[in-house]
Formats: sequence, C-alpha cells, structure tokens
Amino acid sequence: MLTDSGRHVQIAPSILAADFGHMAQEVEAVTLGGADMIHVDIMDGQFVPNLTMGPDMVRSVRKATQLPIDVHLMVREPERHLEKFAEAGADLITIHVEATSNVQAALHAIRKLGKRAGLAMNPHTSEASVENILDELDVILVMTINPGFSGQAFLPGMLPKLTRTHRLVAEAGHAISIEVDGGIGPKTASVVAQAGAEILVAGTAVFAQPDRQRAITAIRTAARGQ
Ligand code: DX5
Ligand code: ZN
Repeated sequence: MLTDSGRHVQIAPSILAADFGHMAQEVEAVTLGGADMIHVDIMDGQFVPNLTMGPDMVRSVRKATQLPIDVHLMVREPERHLEKFAEAGADLITIHVEATSNVQAALHAIRKLGKRAGLAMNPHTSEASVENILDELDVILVMTINPGFSGQAFLPGMLPKLTRTHRLVAEAGHAISIEVDGGIGPKTASVVAQAGAEILVAGTAVFAQPDRQRAITAIRTAARGQ
C-alpha cells in the first residue's frame, strides 16, 4: 500500500548531469518542465574525488530561474564557504555530517544567513548522527549512492535507513523534509516516496532524456504510485 507521502514529492533536477555548455537553457527547460527546485552539486576534490562548480554557477542559475536553489556541498569544512553560496542565491544549503567537526555551528550559520539548513548522510553514516540535532535542521538528505558522480546505481540498502530517518523525524514532531539523492528515476521514485522521501533529486533521469518535462513527469507519476 502506498502512503500519501508520494503525493507531495518535490523534484529537484541535479544540474551536474546537464549540458554545461548550455546551462541557462537547461535550467529554463526543467523550470518550464515542472521542477520544484534546482539541485546544484558542489564538490571540492577532497571530500569527494570529483571537482565541479562554485558560487559563480549558483549565481548563473539564480539568473535563469525563480525556483529555489538547493546547494549540496560535498566539501570539507563547508563553514568556510557558506556566506559565498548564500550571497550567490542559494535557498537551501546542505552540508555533510562527515565534512566538519562542528556540524551544529555550521547549520546555525546557514540559518543565520537566512537560508534553510540541510544535513546529508553518506551511505555508511547512521541516522544516529542526525538524531540529536533535529532542532537545527530543515532538510535531511539521505544519500542513495556514494557521492561524487552522477549516473551511479541506486543503493537499495539505503531504504531501511530512509524509513528509520522518516520515523525519527515524525516521532520528534519536526517539520523536516527528507531528501534523497543518487540513482533516482521512474524505477526508484515509488519506493523512496513510500519510505518517506519528499524531495527527490534526479540528475541522469532528467538530463539524459531528450524531453525534460516528460522525464520530470515520469518521476513524479512514479512517486505517486500511478
Ligand atoms: C552525486 C550528486 C548527485 C548526482 C545525482 O554525488 O550528489 O546529486 O548529480 O545524479 P543521478 O541522479 O544521476 O544519480
Ligand atoms: Zn547532490
């Protein structure tokens, strides 16, 4: 049986899988195609092996859409960069629990900048690492791949953790949205929505399809269990 959680899912296309030579058009296409926010993956070559983009890209995306921008920081010591991403136009800034020795201070700093604060967990990180910090959070990001690259296969072993995370948020009575990132598409959207995910990040499943609107609709329809 489907819960009704799938009805309220938000789709966040990850521009890491977009054509970097036509980024403004890519962002416009997913905006017109029904995306709910734009997911921007920032990688520093240290926390993850890949290097991607920085605040200038967020600034360009900000010019191309009115949608909220979801900045996913896969960088060590993210606290050093928060202000730059806030100024560039981020609405939600997500840091990794594994990336800093003072998670609470970093989350607090994000909110002080007037932005929504997100905390991400790698596949091997337990939900216990976010349990005592729920007051500081607007979003919990459960990674469903090891971060670093688009196009990896969804890790089904993350589903029990997703369910447990959803339960602990519900039991604590917090208005925290649960986001999933990695390998999400029409085949996986339904199970993650049933397990409590509300924000679905999708890179390849959106940008490797010729029709972005169709791709977004297919994910949303699957998440709703239709
Ligand atoms: C990977 C990034 C993801 C990635 C998702 O570390 O955080 O946002 O772009 O790409 P897909 O949807 O192709 O797995
Ligand atoms: Zn991401």
